[in-house]
Amino acid sequence: MKVTIYGSGYVGLVTGACLAEVGNEVLCVDVDADKIARLKRGEVPIYEPGLESMIARNREAGRLSFTTNPDEAVAHGLFQFIAVGTPPDEDGSADIQYVVAVARTIAERMSEYRIVVDKSMVPVGTADKVRETIEEIQRQQGSEVAFDVVSNPEFLKEGAAIDDFMKPDRIIIGTDNPRTTELLKALYAPFNRNRERLFAMDIRSAELTKYAANAMLATKISFMNELANLAEKVGADIEQVRVGIGSDPRIGYHFIYPGCGYGGSCFPKDVKALERTARVMGYEAELLSAVENVNSRQKRRLFEKIDHYFKGDLGGKTIALWGLAFKPNTDDMREAPSRVLMESLWNAGARVQAFDPVAMDETRRIYGERVDLQLVNDPLEALEGADGLALVTEWNLFRSPDFETMKTQLRQPVIFDGRNLYDPTFVRRQGFEYFGIGRG
Ligand SMILES: NC(=O)c1ccc[n+]([C@@H]2O[C@H](COP(=O)([O-])OP(=O)(O)OC[C@H]3O[C@@H](n4cnc5c(N)ncnc54)[C@H](O)[C@@H]3O)[C@@H](O)[C@H]2O)c1
Repeated sequence: MKVTIYGSGYVGLVTGACLAEVGNEVLCVDVDADKIARLKRGEVPIYEPGLESMIARNREAGRLSFTTNPDEAVAHGLFQFIAVGTPPDEDGSADIQYVVAVARTIAERMSEYRIVVDKSMVPVGTADKVRETIEEIQRQQGSEVAFDVVSNPEFLKEGAAIDDFMKPDRIIIGTDNPRTTELLKALYAPFNRNRERLFAMDIRSAELTKYAANAMLATKISFMNELANLAEKVGADIEQVRVGIGSDPRIGYHFIYPGCGYGGSCFPKDVKALERTARVMGYEAELLSAVENVNSRQKRRLFEKIDHYFKGDLGGKTIALWGLAFKPNTDDMREAPSRVLMESLWNAGARVQAFDPVAMDETRRIYGERVDLQLVNDPLEALEGADGLALVTEWNLFRSPDFETMKTQLRQPVIFDGRNLYDPTFVRRQGFEYFGIGRG
């Protein structure tokens, strides 16, 4: 089948590569000419495990190509996927201007039946807006080409995106036309062989399902972080509490890790956008506000612990950071807790020496050259002459470090563990002072 995908970011590229991998002819489109030029040269502008080789394989086979040309884009695919960004507006609601821009691009050039598939994260009612935009342009142009609009939210996780797309937990299709459901079922059949994973529903329910999933996951994290802070006050260890409650199958062990807050391109903006949608509809979503507030507070916890340890005197101190990406296996720094920590340290007059396996270029892009930021090439180098270590992202290579050597590198053997990666008793026995999240 022929598929066009607008937006060659995390979602667009993974969707494009995976659809090409199973035999479709995919054209990926972007307005960023530099990005498309790089993709045409065989470079992949983002880090996502397995993506580079999959793109290369399918480019060589002629099933995956790239363009900035809208005429080519609209002419190519029966399926016109929208996977462009939906960043937060000033008031927290999702800004759908790029989605609407793609709808216009399609409407102005469409000369035969098209299925417009919305994969971007969009507020409930956006599919209607896309449909109205296309109808309006058709009215102005006096054209009457048939089309359908489908909501098909994406559930992939950065860092495991290929696997999530190839073996999805669910494929949500929101449509009011049974024929489009059949066509999308056919497109998704290669990813739906093991058992029925495709749920067809009405468009608004599909749009809300994606928000509900992200808001639930964010709620689990904020709940655990709230309890972690309480555990510190009452002298309990949140890690023991986590194990204790996770054993109840109604609660489960997934996604109940306390830490220094959630970040990334999804949870922070999606929780805010859903809360905003509720407000617009005249409903105060109190739980969602609390989830967001708890998370904002949690992102400051590491700094508070460091500041408290140094008695508010961080001027001239150097803090080593392990991990910059908002989570392991990605270079994505959007809303990353590391950013809140670094910016707070800089405001307090401290220097940062940081290492991350893949997110250092992104950090450079965001902050540029600064005298109070040194990015180094390996974890131990980050510790050289540092007054303490803050562990921010739980990359595998930080899990079992050489504590003996670490002690010789650090000026003061103190660890602030934002992910509770280390066993406090063991680390203290190695001669470190240790501060985790929600544990004594
Ligand atoms: N990243 C994730 O893990 C994830 C997961 C599920 C859903 N989503 C949602 O999917 C959407 C895309 O997210 P992303 O992380 O891939 O974003 P991204 O910022 O990585 O990529 C978006 C791309 O769209 C391009 N673009 C903007 N306007 C365009 C236009 N008119 N035509 C063609 N391209 C255009 C941009 O240049 C950019 O390359 C968002 O709504 C996001 O919330 C993201």
